[in-house]
Amino acid sequence: MRMLLRIVGVLVVLSLIAGAYFAWSLNHVAALPTGPVTSVAAAKILLEPIPDGPNAAQLRQGQYLARLGDCLSCHLRADGEPFAGGLGLNTPFGVIYSSNISSDPEHGIGHWTPDQFYRAMHDGIGAQGQHLYPAFPYPWFRNLSREDDDALLAYLKTTPPVAYQPPGNQLFFPMNVRASVALWNVISLPPQTGAQTPQGATPEWSRGEAIVLGPGHCSQCHTPRNPFGADTRGKAFQGGLLDNFVSPDLTGNERTGLGRWSVDDITEYLRTGRNARAAAGGPMGDVVTYSTSMMTDEDRHAIAIYLKSLPASADVDSTAADTASIKRGAAVFSDACTACHLENAIGQPTLFPPLGNNAVAQQTDPTGVLHIILAGVRVGPSPTRPSPLTMPSFAWKLTDQQIADVSTYIRNSWGNRASPVAVEDVAKLRSKLQLDEPRLTDNSGDH
Ligand code: HEC
Ligand code: HEC
Ligand code: HEC
Repeated sequence: MRMLLRIVGVLVVLSLIAGAYFAWSLNHVAALPTGPVTSVAAAKILLEPIPDGPNAAQLRQGQYLARLGDCLSCHLRADGEPFAGGLGLNTPFGVIYSSNISSDPEHGIGHWTPDQFYRAMHDGIGAQGQHLYPAFPYPWFRNLSREDDDALLAYLKTTPPVAYQPPGNQLFFPMNVRASVALWNVISLPPQTGAQTPQGATPEWSRGEAIVLGPGHCSQCHTPRNPFGADTRGKAFQGGLLDNFVSPDLTGNERTGLGRWSVDDITEYLRTGRNARAAAGGPMGDVVTYSTSMMTDEDRHAIAIYLKSLPASADVDSTAADTASIKRGAAVFSDACTACHLENAIGQPTLFPPLGNNAVAQQTDPTGVLHIILAGVRVGPSPTRPSPLTMPSFAWKLTDQQIADVSTYIRNSWGNRASPVAVEDVAKLRSKLQLDEPRLTDNSGDH
């Protein structure tokens, strides 16, 4: 009995570690962007016309799936070649590097059989039978059909071969043992969604659902993780914390979610990374650049229809802010923020987001707002809006108290309501983002 308890204990501990690892391993965006800007040039490969030929239809399908699956967000490092991998994903257990999935037979997947590729996408098993880490979104990609996987592989085999070997992972025990993922799979790997289409669902809604839960893997960021690192049940799309960015609530909640957004607001955001209400920065900027900006209008519309059908999350109570803090925050705002966001934070449509009735500002967890103010943020460029608009970093300019005050102020003005921000939270995030000492960030605005 004691032996059994011990085994169960060890299993629980291991799975908790695996879960925590998974939750964190999804963070491929470094705390601060240090490399060159998201590369629109690299994304162009996904728009290159595929010449007519015997299997042109399959190759076009594969190329399109590579857009839907956001493969380049992860399989492209700064100054690297498309699909050659080598992007380091930070985790508390060390760094994990994305694989080379170009057509190179030695370093890439040029020699892979369709069976091997299907097993990787569906079960997270590599060509040598080894477990792949769930930082690779196979828990979502497993919803692709065999035909889709065959098309993706056929397409990837037409990409330029790149003889590049990504660095070896630098993971600590026990995560350096790939077999530990087997345990995680038993506990947390979601079953395939299959055809769950509810009665009365339109084909368009179903298409949206299939993209969001499958190749789009939107819930990887937008659903909170449970202690095992899987989607928290009953909280689908209610917002998640990832690498110190908050991926907002996408449900119909009018304050924190998409309740006030029209279908067209959503499609414009996915196409251009901007609309009259918000701008896509941080990890979402990459999603726009490498994926949603290159989807068809029909697919963006289907996603919007699906998202607009998500029932509103329960509203969370907020504590009242202290009037002195609000007053100090208003002064900071008028000094540091109105140049772009304008008086009353009305902003400028598609350039500077308005901050009133703004969901990003009102997330229960203020980490996202603090990250944006401390480090600055860059809107993801897209074919229709190629200029990388940025908000500068304020870490070197404002004190922790000023940032707490201005955040509390914007979270409680112009129709917004959210709990005040504590100065300790600003200090903690500042140190996590390594901004204790003034230094240039990619978005410092002064270089
Ligand atoms: C969120 C980041 C992320 C995205 C998005 C992503 N990958 Fe990966 N992928 C990874 C990482 C990290 C690995 C390495 C996993 C490991 O070493 O265990 C990987 C590994 C792989 C492998 C295994 C390669 C090998 O040599 O074992 C394949 C195949 C693959 N990815 C294909 C794809 C395809 C196709 C897409 C788009 C549909 C995609 N990936 C999107 C992060 C990602
Ligand atoms: C890698 C993490 C990640 C993935 C994957 C991701 N998102 Fe996001 N998303 C974010 C973050 C972070 C933000 C907030 C951006 C900001 O503050 O500028 C966001 C913002 C959004 C917004 C705007 C919300 C608002 O109120 O401003 C929409 C809509 C959205 N995402 C839809 C999607 C869809 C649809 C998908 C899947 C196709 C997706 N996201 C995949 C991280 C992600
Ligand atoms: C130089 C112009 C500029 C200044 C000054 C500026 N911002 Fe921004 N801000 C932007 C841009 C551009 C964005 C869109 C970036 C994004 O969300 O990806 C933005 C986005 C934001 C967002 C996220 C909104 C959303 O929907 O994603 C918040 C919150 C914010 N700013 C607050 C502030 C605060 C507080 C200040 C003053 C301390 C400030 N900004 C100063 C340009 C600016």
